[in-house]
Amino acid sequence: LELLTMDWLRQMLGLPENFFGVIADTASSNTLYALAAAREIHPEFRLREEGMSGRADLPRMVIYCSEEAHSSVDKAVMTLGFGLEALRKIPTDTALRMDPQALATEIEHDRRLGRVPFAVVATVGTTSTTAIDPVGAIAEICDRQKMWLHVDASYGGTAAIVPEMRHVLDGCDRADSLVVNPHKWLFTPMDCSALYTRRPELLKRAFQHIPEFLVVSEGEGVTNLMDYGIALGRRFRALKLWFVIRSFGVEGLQSLIREHIRIARQLGEWIDGDSEFERMADVNFSTVVFRHCPPGMRGSELDDHNARLLQDVLERREVYLSHTRVRGSYALRIAIGNIHTTEAHVRRALELIKEAARSGG
Ligand SMILES: Cc1ncc(COP(=O)(O)O)c(C=O)c1O
Repeated sequence: LELLTMDWLRQMLGLPENFFGVIADTASSNTLYALAAAREIHPEFRLREEGMSGRADLPRMVIYCSEEAHSSVDKAVMTLGFGLEALRKIPTDTALRMDPQALATEIEHDRRLGRVPFAVVATVGTTSTTAIDPVGAIAEICDRQKMWLHVDASYGGTAAIVPEMRHVLDGCDRADSLVVNPHKWLFTPMDCSALYTRRPELLKRAFQHIPEFLVVSEGEGVTNLMDYGIALGRRFRALKLWFVIRSFGVEGLQSLIREHIRIARQLGEWIDGDSEFERMADVNFSTVVFRHCPPGMRGSELDDHNARLLQDVLERREVYLSHTRVRGSYALRIAIGNIHTTEAHVRRALELIKEAARSGG
């Protein structure tokens, strides 16, 4: 059922037929697995057998992501033993997307110093502002440099099930791996994260290890999902995703996602048309990033004002907002992802912020 459900989701996302899918608990685990597979593009380093520590013969292996990438990339790099110093945070453009030119320059620089650049993590829908890295241009660089491209589409990838939003995954057919989380925006309860790869043999090389008591009579003829990650015993996560797809149907899911995006764009328009507010990022998906701007207020005073507004609104316990920092400035976030959220709820959230501001926020 897991293979079947992963294939349904793959088709819904418009990913190529040769993408093999497997479910894990979270995107954090899946990004770690992807980077474990990525280092197997260098079998000559014998990492499975000899590990990484205490080896004078092993060059520094380097990984790249944007400065807006999720902290799960840092954690994967720490856990896999590359060390945080092996992770390069590439600068972003004005829309907070990875700058491919800066990526290429950084890779060249590392090569000149004898390091081995081997993986790039691009993001489709960054956590903070939902920015979309230019995956096509990054894939071009990875091809040229013979590096693994992992795409973190944990949140944003789901939008691609809507035909007119499929472009958000442009270039992802060239990725070596991609993660998308049904538990984020596909109405599936925690936890359920899908990892796709067009190089399952490398994922297997990273994780397959079969002691005698796990040998099965079918041998290599069956797909054994314990070979594609760290877990031996695995929860039946596919079942809940199967239920979601079967009960809403593809069209039902498309119309929910489409509606969330519509409401988010509507909210963006309300914000743009209201001099009390300032939008802080493009509305690419269903998350809107903005701040309340009383006339004449600037800098840290403005940051503190918005932090107080957030606290005040949360204490009213009617809506839940979150926050982030955009190029250092404090910003509020409204994320629409629940099947029960309507335009009226979002309108009310904006009113609550104004009320909080009027009452001294
Ligand atoms: C872009 C992105 N990647 C990864 C993650 C981590 O997801 P998980 O909680 O499934 O590990 C998040 C969570 O917010 C995210 O937004």
